Amino acid sequence: ASENKHYTIGFSQCTGGDAWRRQMLSAMKGELLFHPEIELQYRDAHGDNARQVNDIRDLVKNGIDLLIVSPNEASPITPVVEEVFKMGIPVIVVDRKISSSFYTAYIGADNYEIGELAGSYVSEVLGGKGKIIEIWGLRGSTPAVERHKGFVHALSGFPNIDVVAEFDGAWEIDTVKHGLAAATTQATTVDLVFAHNDVMAYGAYEVFKEARPGNDTKFIGIDGLPGPAAGIQLVDDKILSATFLYPTGGEEAIRTASKILKKEHFEKDNVLLSTVIDPKNVRVMKLQTDKISSQQADIVRQQEKINEQVNAYTKQSVLIYILLASLVAT
Ligand code: FRU
Repeated sequence: ASENKHYTIGFSQCTGGDAWRRQMLSAMKGELLFHPEIELQYRDAHGDNARQVNDIRDLVKNGIDLLIVSPNEASPITPVVEEVFKMGIPVIVVDRKISSSFYTAYIGADNYEIGELAGSYVSEVLGGKGKIIEIWGLRGSTPAVERHKGFVHALSGFPNIDVVAEFDGAWEIDTVKHGLAAATTQATTVDLVFAHNDVMAYGAYEVFKEARPGNDTKFIGIDGLPGPAAGIQLVDDKILSATFLYPTGGEEAIRTASKILKKEHFEKDNVLLSTVIDPKNVRVMKLQTDKISSQQADIVRQQEKINEQVNAYTKQSVLIYILLASLVAT
């Protein structure tokens, strides 16, 4: 490939409004600063399968060189992703999976393992005995299914831990607030709520705080985002007992895309690591994520400075050129 080759990546995001997805996009943009030859076209399907199918078709029409996709639900999005792949356009799937192997690379943490980690944590916290509510992510999305399976597996050796209610919270706080009203009136004692993400765990906490003041129900989530009111802070504030880090894979997606486009070696399946965040390590996590955020802001500032200087240099070069040209003419 020549030095000045330009590439266009289309990124079809299932939903873009939440903090986790915003972090994914900003990680992508941060990494793109190092790849000025790549342009990103972004589409947000707002949690709508039909809209995501259209978004992907649109991006293909625009002539993208590679597609990055985080599918809202696996089965409705699989056919269009297969189509794109079969057209010869490389496809990187991030976070949520499709239900076939017609993709070029996958990037994401192991959701089954995260579910298992959560299950073992719960068995420890409850001392092997207690009543639980499980709040699922959107049932048609693979992280929800995998987190559930891992969780159930880890708890299978604990006959005195009962899941007294479970429902689909669709990854959203509002769905949880509605769904929980029914679940909490049914269940008399609830020792712990395990939600498939921190947003839903926080929603559950709020419902319980209102409906059962003084209760000592524990809340556990997944994502472990930095920033105000997000997972790490919620653990530090003792609102959540624990969360599990679910890295967005934004940077890795762009790095892998660049390798694919430049015909360099890449791995098909890229598993990102997770870890528990609880009172034992939350301070260290906070310090580290704060540091990373400020370093990222520095990188952006440095890039802006470089751009300013390049612009100033270009302007000066043009002026010198005009000056020389007029000297030659006279
Ligand atoms: C964000 C999110 C995360 C969750 C992931 C699963 O949209 O709901 O909270 O971990 O998606 O795909």
